[in-house]
Amino acid sequence: MQSKRILLIIGGGIAAYKALLLIRLLAKRGHKVRAVLTPAASQFVTALSVGSLTGDKVYQDLFSLTDEAEMGHIELSRDADLVVVAPATSDLIAKMAHGLANDLASTLLLATDKRVLLAPAMNVRMWHHPATQRNLAQLKSDGVAFVGPEKGDMACGEYGLGRLAEPESILARIEKLFAGDTSIPLPGRRDGALSGRHVLVTSGPTREPIDPVRYIANRSSGKQGHAIAAAAAAAGATVTLVSGPVALADPPGVSVRHVETAREMAAAVEQALPADVFIAAAAVADWRAASEQPEKIKKDASAAGALTLVENPDILAGVSRHASKRPALVVGFAAETNDVIAHAQAKLARKGCDLIVANDVSAAGGAMGGDSNTVHLVSAGGVVDWPTMSKDKVAAKLVAAITSLLARAERSA
Ligand code: CTP
Repeated sequence: MQSKRILLIIGGGIAAYKALLLIRLLAKRGHKVRAVLTPAASQFVTALSVGSLTGDKVYQDLFSLTDEAEMGHIELSRDADLVVVAPATSDLIAKMAHGLANDLASTLLLATDKRVLLAPAMNVRMWHHPATQRNLAQLKSDGVAFVGPEKGDMACGEYGLGRLAEPESILARIEKLFAGDTSIPLPGRRDGALSGRHVLVTSGPTREPIDPVRYIANRSSGKQGHAIAAAAAAAGATVTLVSGPVALADPPGVSVRHVETAREMAAAVEQALPADVFIAAAAVADWRAASEQPEKIKKDASAAGALTLVENPDILAGVSRHASKRPALVVGFAAETNDVIAHAQAKLARKGCDLIVANDVSAAGGAMGGDSNTVHLVSAGGVVDWPTMSKDKVAAKLVAAITSLLARAERSA
């Protein structure tokens, strides 16, 4: 791997000693580390030990005349390929979320135009505090990436989430990033092909309650929809993702609304409009129980026939035929097990959308839950078949296709 320059900001926590191990690992891999030590961090590790490992000056003071003369703090934030904060304390996270810049670390984080990776470490109660969770959500939507924290015994004697990720995991995440993972957008920069556009995506399954313990759902993992949201954000779009219950992390740089049922998804989509592009990748349950039973349905004879189903609202058809806020481009998905193209063509007409991304979910290693997808793009202009690709590749190619379709749709409007 090519040698990279990393600006490592060490926050003040008991886990700061692990930053020393991280520096060693990075140096062993040939990367150049420049370190910033917050005043609190210098209570845990010394500038001397950090500097001995980086082989460089350690930066500590925002108003240091010598540092400013040698390398201004703005330059320091620009002279790196990546900014890593480890440990990222609750205080640093709060400052970043609010754009505060009252010391060297927070000023660098506000001034940087580079990707930022945080490795949080704090007491479990501080991690779960609503204020910290609010700040984390803000930073995720700003495009900041995270590694950890991990669960385990803490130095303070408690147990839970809040331990700094192991230096090996932080290194692995950093190298993944350098290996071409562009899912972390550049801060403040939205200058890709979809810059200035609002892209609204639905993803995952919906869950329709039957009684307090049962629900109707499907096998959708949300991987394809989430990958599309991430790819649209990487292309500079402002992205709103309305997600059903999935086991995936929120994609960075994307504003996420979590919902459970089809009706909640429909309401969240309506609230997120207007948008330039709507992509309905969710596997919305077509049916729900006519009424949710307040008590668990018992296994007696009368229960067998007790489930009456009613149809859910069709979100895609609703957006396609929206009276006042129809997006310029509306894209649907069709998961089929047979006659894929014919069903997709019928869906295109029935739902009034501009493009259907059709896939055969009965294929070997089926798309539902898997990491690859074989899709066909079905529009009024004809059918385009794509070879089997990873869901990330499908997402990137789809975002590129959408960019040109959007331009065409607007030209002919
Ligand atoms: N869709 C939706 N709201 C629904 C059902 C489906 O927005 N209530 C969207 C899906 O997100 C997808 C497309 O419609 O983009 C097709 O979904 P699919 O379940 O394949 O279509 P159905 O209309 O349910 O058709 P069928 O079950 O007959 O195949």
